[in-house]
Amino acid sequence: MTKLKCMVFISGNGSNLKNILSNIESGFIKDVTIEYVVSDNKNANGIKHAKEHGIKVLYIDNNYKLISGLIKEMGIGLVILAGYMKIIPKDFMKMHDGIIINIHPSLLPKYKGLDTHKKVLDNGDNHHGASVHFATEELDSGPVIIQGVVKVNNNDDISSLRGKVHEVEYKILPLAIKWFSENIVSKHGDNYYYQGEKRTSPIILL
Ligand code: GAR
Repeated sequence: MTKLKCMVFISGNGSNLKNILSNIESGFIKDVTIEYVVSDNKNANGIKHAKEHGIKVLYIDNNYKLISGLIKEMGIGLVILAGYMKIIPKDFMKMHDGIIINIHPSLLPKYKGLDTHKKVLDNGDNHHGASVHFATEELDSGPVIIQGVVKVNNNDDISSLRGKVHEVEYKILPLAIKWFSENIVSKHGDNYYYQGEKRTSPIILL
């Protein structure tokens, strides 16, 4: 069986990267290799997780052309934006449409962009969560594959919400990667398919 080659983009802590690597090690995600970790930040803490696993690390320095070339040359089949905080040029997104997924800390389409935990608290929402979606040219858009929901309590603050959302991210991102690698989910045109059926709403992990 040929393995699905992946590239993971990070900017900071890289706890999602670490979690993906443990899910590959445990065998939950099978036949997948992380070939490269790409960072826009030379000091990103997450780089250490890549190095511990002997994964090549690239500092992107806005050179998306180089990364695009590498994706084609190396046969990268999945690009995972796992805490990547830079806006990626539209031509890059267009060129690799269908093979880029992003994890975002909100129940999309609510709260695209930054400061999602604060927005949830400011609006007095009862629920919050995270989404994994096929990434398109528009920021935090594209069909949502799966969402994980968390309850917001009266005593929650930004830090506690960040922690709860991370916990749910550690479940939904590996699941989305597993489904993609097993051809269970795919994107065609503007639509997302699950087991060959077009879906108009995400799968929700409660
Ligand atoms: C995650 O919560 C991810 O959803 C978010 O950054 C965090 C990265 O954590 N991504 C975005 O906000 C992108 N718009 P990590 O570095 O520990 O994986």
